[in-house]
Amino acid sequence: MTPAIEVTATADLPLGMPASDFLRDYWQKRPLLVRGAIPELTAGQPLPIEPDDLAGLACEDFALSRLIVHHAASDGWQVRTGPLPEDAFDGLPERDWTLLVQDVDRWDRDVAGLLRHFAFLPRWRIDDIMVSFASPGGSVGAHVDQYDVFLIQGMGTRRWLVDSSDAPDLAMRDDVELKLLRQFNATHDWTLQPGDLLYLPPGVPHHGIAIEAGLTFSVGMRAPSRAEMLVDLAEHLAEALPESQRYTDPDLAPASDPFEIDSSALSRARAAMPTIAPLPDASLVRWLGGFLTRYRSAGEAAASDVVTRPEQLKATLHNGCRLSHHPLARFAWSGLGDEPLLFVNGLALPCPTTQAALICRHSELGISELAGQPEIIWATLARLVDSGYLFPVEGNDA
Ligand code: SIN
Ligand code: CO
Repeated sequence: MTPAIEVTATADLPLGMPASDFLRDYWQKRPLLVRGAIPELTAGQPLPIEPDDLAGLACEDFALSRLIVHHAASDGWQVRTGPLPEDAFDGLPERDWTLLVQDVDRWDRDVAGLLRHFAFLPRWRIDDIMVSFASPGGSVGAHVDQYDVFLIQGMGTRRWLVDSSDAPDLAMRDDVELKLLRQFNATHDWTLQPGDLLYLPPGVPHHGIAIEAGLTFSVGMRAPSRAEMLVDLAEHLAEALPESQRYTDPDLAPASDPFEIDSSALSRARAAMPTIAPLPDASLVRWLGGFLTRYRSAGEAAASDVVTRPEQLKATLHNGCRLSHHPLARFAWSGLGDEPLLFVNGLALPCPTTQAALICRHSELGISELAGQPEIIWATLARLVDSGYLFPVEGNDA
């Protein structure tokens, strides 16, 4: 029996089912609409971000933003990429435009707070929360995304048309700047209210159209391409190889044709790259943790030019100060390999698993979380402070 495509959340089951059922039946497989999944967004509650603040963010230098206007009469699309000038919103029509800002979770703690609803997924699998504000009729057209996405209605109502058929036609229009589908035949037509959530696996055609002005929160996943992973792994392995290790041919015989790459040359090339043999877990996980925490970094934290001593840091935290994750820092850890490692934006730091998990889990760490932890943790924290991935904030944790 095909699993239901529309369910209603309950207080105990925010996805309308246990997370394990969702992952088994829907994740990367088929769309799902969950009515009332995010109760704090249902009408009458304060929004995690107001439309005006979103517009302000779209004008900041660091923001990845787009303003998309649809000219319905000609079906033309106008795309303006941010950072947007403050007057970008002057003279916009009453309807048919959308403002989209990526990475809003990095800059807004309340928006980042929505991520707690997705704690059943590995955090490093989540890319960002994009927030869009759409005027009535606002849309970005019918398209597919390469990544899984959870579309959450935050304010206003929005109509979502979805094609859940097995082999949709994915041919793209070539007359517009946006990647839009040439053909789109919806199998489902839903109106989402605030608090409703629509999950879409990669490659499912969809088209959202605002019925009234509203906000949509898109929790997007990260899925590096196999090509990206391979290039990064090759670079990682190459770093460990000394310049002195080279292609050698002490057994060279006179060339029958000086331009030929013969089978002996190929065998020597193969022998020069033993890393194409299966890799042990220890090297693979050291690379993967670095790669996943560095992948698609939108920017870097500023490193400190002074060296923090572990005991000095401990004293600072005893005085009530706390350490906050930098918004651009990505944290992960692993106990695989020959020693447990904490990964932060490509850094791989030896750290016992319990403490590595603690540092990842708390986006703010104070003495209340760190008291009684093994001494080794302070050197790791000091290193992260010097790298800018943790930064001190005032607290009352003394
Ligand atoms: C939007 O928020 O307007 C678009 C989100 C999407 O279709 O992926
Ligand atoms: Co989309």
